[in-house]
Amino acid sequence: MKDTVTIVTGGARGIGEAIAKFLAEKGGNIAIFDIIDGYDVVEAIKQKGVEAKFYKVDVSEYKVVEGAVDDVVKTFGRLNNLVNNAGITTDKLLIRMKEEDWDRVIKVNLKSVFNCTKAAIRHMLKTGGSIVNISSIAGVMGNIGQANYAASKAGIIGFTKSIAREYGERGIRVNAVAPGFIKTQMTDTIDEKTKEEMFRAIPLKRLGEPMDVAHVVYFLVSEYGSYITGEVINVNGGLYM
Ligand code: NAI
Repeated sequence: MKDTVTIVTGGARGIGEAIAKFLAEKGGNIAIFDIIDGYDVVEAIKQKGVEAKFYKVDVSEYKVVEGAVDDVVKTFGRLNNLVNNAGITTDKLLIRMKEEDWDRVIKVNLKSVFNCTKAAIRHMLKTGGSIVNISSIAGVMGNIGQANYAASKAGIIGFTKSIAREYGERGIRVNAVAPGFIKTQMTDTIDEKTKEEMFRAIPLKRLGEPMDVAHVVYFLVSEYGSYITGEVINVNGGLYM
C-alpha cells in the first residue's frame, strides 16, 4: 500500500474506521469522507507514519463529493483506491415504510456510490485504480424489514459489475464485499433475540468484527487482488453461502 492514496467513505467509525486503519497499517495514505467527526481517527492514522485527512462530506450530494475528491487529488497528488462504505438503515416492514425512508436509504447507500465512483474514476483513468463497494448479505438474500436497504445493497452489486466491465481495460478493478452480521453501532440496536437466532445460524459461531471486513478490502485493493474484478465476496462466517 506504500505511496497509495485511498478514500474511505463512512470512515469515522465502525467498518470504515477499521478499513482506514488497516490500509494505513499497511502503509497507505488515507482520506476519510464522513458526516460525523473523523478528526480523532485521522490523528490515530497519522501515528502510523502515513498521511491522512478528514473531509466532512455528505456522500449523497454529488457536487460536495466532486469538490472533496478533487481536493484529495490536489492534496495527495493522486488517487489510487476508493472504498464506498458509508451506509444507513431505516428498518421497517414495507407497510410502515414511508416514501422518505425509501428515498433516504437509496440516496445515502446507492446514489453515494454513483457519486463517489463518478468523481473518483475521472482521476483513476490516468493511473488505474481499485474500487471496493460495501454491499451486504441483505443485498444478496433479502431481509424482512429491510426492503429499502436490501434494494440499495443489491443495486450496488449491479453497479459494481457494470463499472468493472466498463473500466477493466483502463486498469480499474471494481469489486464488492457483502458482510454478514458485523459488530458495530449499526447492529447495536438489533434486539437480543434476533442476535441469538443469527448467532445460531452462523457456522463459524461468532459475530463478525469490523477487521474481518477490513482484511478482505485490503486483499482486494492490494496487488494480491490484481486479477479480481466484478466479484462479490461474502464475509459472513458462512451465514449465507
Ligand atoms: P456505522 O453506522 O457504524 O458506520 C457508518 C458510517 O457511515 C458512519 O460513520 C456514518 O456517519 C457514515 N455515514 C452515514 N451517512 C453518511 C453520509 N450521507 N455521508 C457520509 N458518511 C455517512 O455502520 P457500519 O456497520 O460500520 O457499516 C458500514 C457499511 O457496512 C455500511 O454500508 C453498511 O450498510 C455495511 N454493512 C454493515 C453490516 C453490519 O453488520 N454492521 C453488514 C453488512 C453491511
